[in-house]
Amino acid sequence: MAEKYVITSGKGGVGKTTICANLAKELALKGYRVLVIDGDVGLNNLDVLTGVENISAFDLFDVVKGKCRARQALCSSPLSNNLYVLPSTKTSSSVEITSQEVKSVIAEIEGLFDYIFIDCPAGIDASFHRAVSISTRAIVVVTPSITSVRDADKVIAILKSYPLNSILVVLNRLRGDLVLSGESLSSEEVESTLKTEVIGVIPEDDVLSFNRSVGRTGESSKAFKNLALYLEGKPFKVYDYTKKYTGFFGSIRKELKKRL
Ligand SMILES: Nc1ncnc2c1ncn2[C@@H]1O[C@H](COP(=O)(O)OP(=O)(O)O)[C@@H](O)[C@H]1O
Ligand SMILES: [Mg+2]
Repeated sequence: MAEKYVITSGKGGVGKTTICANLAKELALKGYRVLVIDGDVGLNNLDVLTGVENISAFDLFDVVKGKCRARQALCSSPLSNNLYVLPSTKTSSSVEITSQEVKSVIAEIEGLFDYIFIDCPAGIDASFHRAVSISTRAIVVVTPSITSVRDADKVIAILKSYPLNSILVVLNRLRGDLVLSGESLSSEEVESTLKTEVIGVIPEDDVLSFNRSVGRTGESSKAFKNLALYLEGKPFKVYDYTKKYTGFFGSIRKELKKRL
């Protein structure tokens, strides 16, 4: 049975959708069959990041209401032949969907996939609980800011009340130069504050922020590869975010960044 990962956070705008799309693409390109489910209500960019915004005919709501079969609502992503997207509803009527209804939709298709990622909306409302209750594992995305870490802490406490196999943290938008100068929280500090394993660090990457593109080569692509190895259960290393700023050339790079 596919592991079902909910990608969540307390705070919005921390990179859940970005991580969901990039990780899914990475695993799909390795040959795994991957499904991403948009757990948000009409406000998500998952369809744009996975390239299916113009090809979705049906959505989760249509499946739940019996307008089509679950398979018919799956959109094949142009990023990889192995990557499929189940769009969320564009209407507010999704509040009427229950966890049980979504569970039965997933039960119909989960045999087709190795990994399922559920991109969760910000906050802890009904759609958060629905997304978590259909998942077997949780990935909490956090940025190195006090507010994000505090919100992640609250979310982790709530996640602990669900029967999940694991709760893991991915630290996004980390700047190695700022960690070295003591201006940013480090991955170790975030891990010890949250008392939860940090399985991946994604660096701040202009390619992600300006282009909102998945699949381009930026500084983060190595970090996503490392994270994919973790999910595969293979030997992996958390991306070394300070490496670029240590040694002779690294020190110059750090100085140049300071002046920007
Ligand atoms: N590692 C990163 N480096 C630079 N920009 C990022 C990174 N991760 C996310 N972003 C940017 O941050 C913004 C919010 O990301 P998004 O994935 O939509 O967050 P969420 O789904 O948590 O609301 C987007 O503009 C995205 O491109
Ligand atoms: Mg999002």
